[in-house]
Amino acid sequence: MNHNPVFLALDLPRLDSAEALARKVAGHIGGIKLGLEFFCAHGHHGVHELHKLGLPIFLDLKLHDIPNTVAAAMQAIHVLEPAIVTVHAAGGRAMMEDAKAAAGENTKVVAVTVLTSLDDDDLTAIGVKADPAEQALRLADLAHSAGLDGIVCSGHEVGAIHKQWKDGYFVVPGLRPAEGGNGDQKRIVTPRQARDAGASVLVIGRPISRAEDPLAAAKAIEATL
Ligand code: C5P
Repeated sequence: MNHNPVFLALDLPRLDSAEALARKVAGHIGGIKLGLEFFCAHGHHGVHELHKLGLPIFLDLKLHDIPNTVAAAMQAIHVLEPAIVTVHAAGGRAMMEDAKAAAGENTKVVAVTVLTSLDDDDLTAIGVKADPAEQALRLADLAHSAGLDGIVCSGHEVGAIHKQWKDGYFVVPGLRPAEGGNGDQKRIVTPRQARDAGASVLVIGRPISRAEDPLAAAKAIEATL
């Protein structure tokens, strides 16, 4: 059987609802993504509870601080045995090197480059002269040379980045199944397209969590892969 690359983003405020949803679709996803909101609300306890489902856990904490602090944070989450942890590439080379050195050997450390919520004006306001796409490429190169496993990137970028970084580990969010009723059809990338372009992990949240029938939605996505 193929390894399922779908990590379900459990962006739900309540632990019991998150657990119930994950349990429902557990046989048809490859892992669970827990973000900063979940971790701040439920901490190690919440992660332990979800670990009981036996799926790999992606801790999307987007760590960004001085190298020593990020390394200590990586050590503090080591007991949770995350399969993937994110850090901000903007934290710089030493921070990324120390984060990778502090991570367990079974943990992929992946960099976030430019948040999709930032536009040209936002970058100008924080003193970055490049446009978001240029800046993302620069930070991807920095993450690569700092020894990280890969980066988070969009389904539009993953093909080009994969050509430059052949053995990179690419985490792709923002995906929508073709039949998802998205008003902006031209811009959507489907899970299958992202996988074919070189994505290692497909992060999918609302298309499953907000579906009328999450199990059917997860199965339908799985069937396309
Ligand atoms: O949109 P959806 O619910 O599928 O998003 C799943 C996850 O991907 C969320 O945790 C969201 O924060 C993240 N995401 C992201 N960058 C985007 C879109 C979504 O990191 N451009």
